[in-house]
Amino acid sequence: MKGVQNIYHHSYTLSFLLVFLVLVLFHPALSIYVNTMSSSESLTISSNRTLVSSGGVFELGFFKPSGLSRWYLGIWYKKVSEKTYAWVANRDNPLSNPIGTLKISGNNLVLIGQSNNSVWSTNLTTCNVRSPVIAELLPNGNFVMRYSNNKDSSGFLWQSFDFPTDTLLPEMKLGYDRQTGRHRFLTSWRSYDDPSSGNTKYKLDIRRGLPEFILINQFLNQRVEMQRSGPWNGMEFSGIPEVQGLNYMVYNYTENSEEIAYSFHMTNQSIYSRLTISDYTLNRFTWIPPSRAWSMFWGLPTDVCDSLYLCGSYAYCDLNTSPNCNCIRGFVPKNRQRWDLRDGSQGCVRRTRLSYSGDGFLRLKNMNLPDTKTATVDRTIDAKKCEEKCLSDCNCTSFAIADVRNGGLGCVFWTGDLVEMRKFAVGGQDLYVRLNAADLGDRGKELDQP
Ligand SMILES: *[C@@H]1O[C@H](CO)[C@@H](O)[C@H](O)[C@H]1NC(C)=O
Ligand SMILES: *[C@@H]1O[C@H](CO)[C@@H](O)[C@H](O)[C@H]1NC(C)=O
Ligand SMILES: *[C@@H]1O[C@H](CO)[C@@H](O)[C@H](O)[C@H]1NC(C)=O
Ligand SMILES: *[C@@H]1O[C@H](CO)[C@@H](O)[C@H](O)[C@H]1NC(C)=O
Ligand SMILES: *[C@@H]1O[C@H](CO)[C@@H](O)[C@H](O)[C@H]1NC(C)=O
Ligand SMILES: *[C@@H]1O[C@H](CO)[C@@H](O)[C@H](O)[C@H]1NC(C)=O
Repeated sequence: MKGVQNIYHHSYTLSFLLVFLVLVLFHPALSIYVNTMSSSESLTISSNRTLVSSGGVFELGFFKPSGLSRWYLGIWYKKVSEKTYAWVANRDNPLSNPIGTLKISGNNLVLIGQSNNSVWSTNLTTCNVRSPVIAELLPNGNFVMRYSNNKDSSGFLWQSFDFPTDTLLPEMKLGYDRQTGRHRFLTSWRSYDDPSSGNTKYKLDIRRGLPEFILINQFLNQRVEMQRSGPWNGMEFSGIPEVQGLNYMVYNYTENSEEIAYSFHMTNQSIYSRLTISDYTLNRFTWIPPSRAWSMFWGLPTDVCDSLYLCGSYAYCDLNTSPNCNCIRGFVPKNRQRWDLRDGSQGCVRRTRLSYSGDGFLRLKNMNLPDTKTATVDRTIDAKKCEEKCLSDCNCTSFAIADVRNGGLGCVFWTGDLVEMRKFAVGGQDLYVRLNAADLGDRGKELDQP
């Protein structure tokens, strides 16, 4: 009996092994992907080896853009048939022939070219190697270097999410890290199939009175701001056409002593979404299975009213009026002749000077708020006190509510000219512009712009 049992036992083991092998070899969902690399391993161009994140969404390896004789280390979406790169390591220092090795050397990830020269390195200077170091491609597309015994994100020695190229992935942050002084921003590819740094950037400008995202084109020494997001109002940036209330995507803006950061995350992991900058534009692309392609959800700039220099100060752009530039009520064109020729760039001037005693406020609805260069914010003041506080400062020209949630908290005050405003058909925010009572008309103190 014992022998028979043994034979049964062995054949069970054998058939189990066979079934396992068949499953592994012929069932793609069960293929064994490698997502880590230890210091004794390397990735080379010739071996075609890649790292695949667990879950199989992202793949890291070498690639060569079609039409270029250059090789790069990058991360792309594994399941999306149209090759879509999310990150490139050596974008400005490519390998010029198909000889290249990625390895861990000491405490650094290094990319080595033909003559053993380093073309890219994580450049860390920490020298006390406590325990073995490994590199791992995480399920969210973050390529990290960490001690093998420490998976905690606060212990990462290095992470690709700190060095964005042209794409913001879910859970990745754009903004400013106050502890390291590091800015994280997007920089376009030079062209559709050339990953080297292009001229367009998307950056959170923290030097303004309130941080806002700016789409910047920099060519030679010319820096041109192409679009402003407006400040975060607790729910959104009024100048970014995100859809609110989607059940699969959540936006997050954080401003505290450690960081100022924007991120988003997916609550349904089968849906992919990314923000990608290319020359002159920023787009949100989303991929919802079973679709086989990315769909563009929105792009910036959206229309002529995003042009920042179209209408001058105290004028706002409205797509639904002709011409698009309008003086705020109580203001008249500064240069009537040019205004009549549909050149609104000179803007408008006050009809009646502020009186400081009897001034009031005109409410403009659905606005992308003025440039925040001259703005200041008080985040704790009761929103009902904004008007009183603005009136008490003779330099205050306008105010808005800082956080519009739950009836409003805090105020934003402008002291200079109001510039670069636009009015949306829907969305945006209320802006209260200070006027002499004489210009408020007799319909009461708070008057809506028609
Ligand atoms: C790597 O991939 C290229 C292109 O797909 C192929 O020509 C080459 O033979 C592969 N090399 C190895 C070692 O598999
Ligand atoms: C590069 O380094 C390897 C191993 O360290 C060595 O075998 C090889 O000769 C070196 N090649 C050159 C061109 O220096
Ligand atoms: C690492 O340092 C070298 C030399 O200072 C520099 O050229 C290179 O850009 C740095 N690499 C990264 C990824 O910052
Ligand atoms: C938003 O991001 C911050 C860190 O940037 C994080 O601490 C916080 O938990 C996030 N909030 C949500 C709702 O995801
Ligand atoms: C996630 O999205 C996919 C694709 O739209 C859908 O089929 C699935 O039901 C969603 N899952 C959940 C939990 O909502
Ligand atoms: C108003 O602005 C002027 C000129 O910038 C400045 O000198 C003055 O101190 C400001 N007044 C207040 C109350 O901030």
